[in-house]
Amino acid sequence: MRKEEQQSRYLAYLLRLWQTADGNSRIWRASLECPGAGRRRGFASLDDLAAYLAGETGSVSTASPDPSSSPSVVQWQKPTTKEVKQMIVYFNGRYLPQEDVHISPDDRGFVFADGVYEVIRAYHGVLFHADLHFARLQRSLSEIGIPEADVPTLEAACYGLLERNGLLDTDARFYLQITRGVARRTHVFPDPPPDPTVYITAGAITPPEKEWETGIKVILVPDIRWARCDIKSLMLLPNILASQQAKEAGAWEAIFVRDGVVTEGSHTTVCGIFDGTLFTAPVTNNILGGVTREIVLSACRRLSIPIKEFPIFEATLPRAQELMILGTTTEVMPVVQVDDLIIGDGAPGPLTRKLQRAFRETVREETTQARMWRRGNHAAL
Ligand SMILES: Cc1ncc(COP(=O)(O)O)c(C=O)c1O
Repeated sequence: MRKEEQQSRYLAYLLRLWQTADGNSRIWRASLECPGAGRRRGFASLDDLAAYLAGETGSVSTASPDPSSSPSVVQWQKPTTKEVKQMIVYFNGRYLPQEDVHISPDDRGFVFADGVYEVIRAYHGVLFHADLHFARLQRSLSEIGIPEADVPTLEAACYGLLERNGLLDTDARFYLQITRGVARRTHVFPDPPPDPTVYITAGAITPPEKEWETGIKVILVPDIRWARCDIKSLMLLPNILASQQAKEAGAWEAIFVRDGVVTEGSHTTVCGIFDGTLFTAPVTNNILGGVTREIVLSACRRLSIPIKEFPIFEATLPRAQELMILGTTTEVMPVVQVDDLIIGDGAPGPLTRKLQRAFRETVREETTQARMWRRGNHAAL
């Protein structure tokens, strides 16, 4: 069977509508199910169904069911990734086409960058290490005094966005942003506190496979950021300027250096191999505690690669046998050139290769387990 046929069969949902009597009124109920995929979803009322479908661009292939006959079945075609015309986003508890989101000019995220964000990766329908990302989100919120988030709701919203945007079978990335909310402009926290503004998008990504093979060039830039880089704050101007500088220099990433010490990349963690030991900056207020960093350090322990959570000095870079940067979408990326300095023999080194393979293996194991668990649960519905 051709891939498109397979996909369209997979996405052919059955929409069942039926009426029930409730006192004097007759109420429509509905369910959507995907034959073969074991997926089913019930709706208590047509309003619920309408709210669910509002975020969808699928089409019903037969005429609407005759209201007098029940139950009725129609085919409803869920869109493939290509057919999704409008991006569906999650905004303050609702799924909406992105163009229908209206953000107040008094939102403190807009006025002050008063908020935090997270980026989470999905591998073919499964969120990867969502627990670590949500824990970091809660910490970032708590550090700036925004009430804690309702994590199960956010996680469900992420899965809802995968479904609504036709992203269940592809590589995707979520962007989650929470701001302090809408209030008249004044520096102090608004009193009473407004409801935080919650915004999530999901999009397909193309992993940088070519660069994983060849390695990349980075440039060094002065670390001009604030003293709380451990918070994933919306204030990213120094990171933006550094990234632009890297692009203009034909480099893939900019690496910050503070007082002669390599801190981290504009959106990545830096690791170096010196005498067979992996060095990476300790988690302090000067860097973001990376989720990928945690996963790679665990892999080093499993593979008996010695670790030193110790600063890498700019002056020692010429002695680095290997260098790599890590991140949620970057994964394990070999660095083969820093400004004009060639690292090692100019090609990705053996420990970097080993860690790339170990990372991929972790992704495969964890996402396969999660997919099996979810399939089992759907089948039990
Ligand atoms: C400044 C900075 N450091 C490190 C990272 C890597 O963190 P993670 O592995 O959790 O993506 C990021 C990711 O966005 C970042 O922005």
